[in-house]
Amino acid sequence: PKKAVLGPLVGAVDQGTSSTRFLVFNSKTAELLSHHQVEIKQEFPKEGWVEQDPKEILQSVYECIEKTCEKLGQLNIDISNIKAIGVSNQRETTVVWDKLTGEPLYNAIVWLDLRTQSTVENLSKRIPGNNNFVKSKTGLPLSTYFSAVKLRWLLDNVEKVQKAVREDRALFGTIDSWLIWSLTGGANGGVHCTDVTNASRTMLFNIHSLEWDKDLCKFFGIPKKILPNVRSSSEIYGLMKISHSLKAGALEGVPISGCLGDQSAALVGQMCFRDGQAKNTYGTGCFLLCNTGPKCVFSDHGLLTTVAYKLGRDKPVYYALEGSVAIAGAVTRWLRDNLGIIKSSEEIEKLAKEVGTSYGCYFVPAFSGLYAPYWDPSARGIICGLTQFTNKCHIAFAALEAVCFQTREILDAMNRDCGIPLSHLQVDGGMTSNKILMQLQADILYIPVVKPSMPETTALGAAMAAGAAEGVGVWSLEPEDLSAVTMERFEPQINAEESEIRYSTWKKAVMKSMGWVT
Ligand code: G3P
Repeated sequence: PKKAVLGPLVGAVDQGTSSTRFLVFNSKTAELLSHHQVEIKQEFPKEGWVEQDPKEILQSVYECIEKTCEKLGQLNIDISNIKAIGVSNQRETTVVWDKLTGEPLYNAIVWLDLRTQSTVENLSKRIPGNNNFVKSKTGLPLSTYFSAVKLRWLLDNVEKVQKAVREDRALFGTIDSWLIWSLTGGANGGVHCTDVTNASRTMLFNIHSLEWDKDLCKFFGIPKKILPNVRSSSEIYGLMKISHSLKAGALEGVPISGCLGDQSAALVGQMCFRDGQAKNTYGTGCFLLCNTGPKCVFSDHGLLTTVAYKLGRDKPVYYALEGSVAIAGAVTRWLRDNLGIIKSSEEIEKLAKEVGTSYGCYFVPAFSGLYAPYWDPSARGIICGLTQFTNKCHIAFAALEAVCFQTREILDAMNRDCGIPLSHLQVDGGMTSNKILMQLQADILYIPVVKPSMPETTALGAAMAAGAAEGVGVWSLEPEDLSAVTMERFEPQINAEESEIRYSTWKKAVMKSMGWVT
């Protein structure tokens, strides 16, 4: 049968910490037509270390593209209508590879990894006079979370990396750079670039001048020659080149024209284009970003200042305040893989529903220390308030509640920094399909929680950026085109007093988790 023509389509790679997806949208209606998802392995070679295989990540992208194209074929949709591809990715995760062979020189060091704790301590001692040196340029606290210290570790500890740098063969990148370089030809002419949002998470990027910062490179001892070119979030970076790993030949020559760190992509996908608009994404971690417009706002309450997006070479840069929580969906994976009390992630909702309360049990999942607003790398996870009555259902409930309490902490910080409290919270991400979690979140924040009916807002943001790029022009970012999004709403159901009591007990538990590693 003749394949249906729907008008221009746009694909998006969404490479997250837990899984990779490829999704295809209709650029006229923003309708999701098809997608495929593959789970990604995480390795924990030592306590606190988190690594992934860059080649597995790349392979998962190829697999997702291929399977999605197959599914589109089954729907009679012609894949030659795909006019552009966007990339969104887990941020900060650090890869160094050999530009002549295309081989990674070490595993990817994942953003959650804590191996650089002592590097961070030593560097903090060297900060000249004022400890605002890093934060004033990058918007970030000096922390294990960001790429510069991971790259420092690779330069100090991996002989292959040292040799490749000496021989001018080494390239550094976050996952976006690794993927775009590989998809545009790799060792045969791949484009080595990143976008401003991803660059802003490296701790080497000056968020005011939008350039790699000479002083920061010197401070962290990073050779500038291995860093990617920094581009806007929406422009043609290069064309898809088909490698032997990709059979979906029809995507050959399609421009890759959108690139955003996943949290920025979700901000765009949720259409938070105005000053004061915010979204919270529940992925492996949980990240609340509030658009602050073209001005950098610095937090007094433990939030980060980050680049929100720059949708075109000649377009203005927008900034965001960000509250980052390291562990959200990852706690569900831990209950599944480490404790084995659930067989699938969805089962957590069933267990939690059986009891409807944690019965005084509190779970602080500080597996990678605590991020915002505490920034305590020495915190570790605790489960407290246990009695003989406690069972796995209460622990499951406490795990969900922990995600909500952590969000409450960053929302409080955000409200204090912005001065105007958020009237509702826009949410997205995998965990938002969990209705108990969404209701708990509304109860704990004591404001409505609002979720778009199409949950793939991260991919949508990357697709929008790709489709709107100069030279592609199949997606209009005008607000009137973006208004028809249907929402599901969760209203607070418990009273404010009860909500406050639960929250203050949570804070007691947090205090117990802090300073654990000495
Ligand atoms: O900063 C880390 C963040 O980008 C990871 O996102 O979706 O994998 O939790 P996610």
